[in-house]
Amino acid sequence: MIPVAIMGHGTVGSGVAEILTTHKHKLFKSIGEELYIKHILDLREFPDSPLADRFTKDFEDIINDIEVRVVVEVMGGINPAYDFVKRCLLAGKSVVTSNKELVAKCGAELLQIAKENNANFLFEASVGGGIPILRPLSQCLVANEVDEIAGILNGTTNFIFGKMINDNMDFDDALKLAQDLGYAERNPEADIEGHDACRKICILASLAFGKHIYPDNVYTEGITKVTLDDVKYADSLNYVIKLIGDVKKNDEGKLEICVCPMLLSKDCILSDIDDVFNGIMVKGDCTGDVVFYGKGAGKLPTASAVVADIVDCAKHLKARKRIFWVDGDGSNVASYKDSITAMYLRVAGDGEKALELFPDSEVMKADGNTVLITQEYRFGEIEDKISALKDAGVKVLSAIRIGNL
Ligand code: HSE
Repeated sequence: MIPVAIMGHGTVGSGVAEILTTHKHKLFKSIGEELYIKHILDLREFPDSPLADRFTKDFEDIINDIEVRVVVEVMGGINPAYDFVKRCLLAGKSVVTSNKELVAKCGAELLQIAKENNANFLFEASVGGGIPILRPLSQCLVANEVDEIAGILNGTTNFIFGKMINDNMDFDDALKLAQDLGYAERNPEADIEGHDACRKICILASLAFGKHIYPDNVYTEGITKVTLDDVKYADSLNYVIKLIGDVKKNDEGKLEICVCPMLLSKDCILSDIDDVFNGIMVKGDCTGDVVFYGKGAGKLPTASAVVADIVDCAKHLKARKRIFWVDGDGSNVASYKDSITAMYLRVAGDGEKALELFPDSEVMKADGNTVLITQEYRFGEIEDKISALKDAGVKVLSAIRIGNL
């Protein structure tokens, strides 16, 4: 019997308890021993739960229980998750988490502590929900130099875009529906302002390139400025708009990393990813493009990835899994101004001034506005040109990157 403690009994935590219970026999066959939920930490009362006798409000019950070697953290946020996880690892207990905020902010430190204490720190569920991506990246694709990782990493925003495009639903109603379905973060700002996708691309980049990338190093733009008009104009130009997290190595060996809405050509495989689904494209130098697709949010998909990590910890109580990266200081990240991109620009009026600054653009007239698909420029140059347009009195209604994936 392998006793497990679960910290948090919200959407994901209750899903983990459910899978450990309903899939008990299947998991037993895989491990050769039974996983037993010994403690569930939550400040709320769950008197009707079949596991009611396992609940505690006191973390000390877990940290002081020497039988518990595997602890699951699914509380979310930094406090108190960081302290609890750190104390568990220092005590030699392996920790599994779905908490991308924690991993993106403190991953290098926690991985180091895990290493020093011969424990595992696994976090497959922190990126892509139910999609296996961290293990494939660190194991199956290990023979590759990774050239680029680009993905739809946030189910909520993808769901919102889908509702806007397909159901003509407005932004607020679509967000409310995503929250009701348990997809959105507790604070929806993390989804719609791109912070959640930013944390996930940080984790992917840290793992793929070996040095911690912190969210502060990443140029991040949310989806709140994208209008239904933009979605429709993009569609008529054969594009779809998606929130993309992207990291690639440039010619100087630095990482270009960003999270922002992008227009994707309808030929791009990521353009077909709808609803709460995520899609992550890894470009390896040996494999070429490999794409991972599945449900990136929700109770059971996310819990499925957590349980897989629990099983891995249970099978490796004496050995360490080789998921690791060292701390970083951001010096390996290129300035966002140096990235090269074409742009979708929407300006009020006839677009004459915009075309002077962005010659050879594809042009579409739309309801008294002008839409331009520009040639490629350095992003810093694009910002300067947009400032010049504004100084000349031109109303710039939208500026969205064109993805080249
Ligand atoms: N809010 C996140 C999303 C949940 O919508 O993708 C999974 O990380």
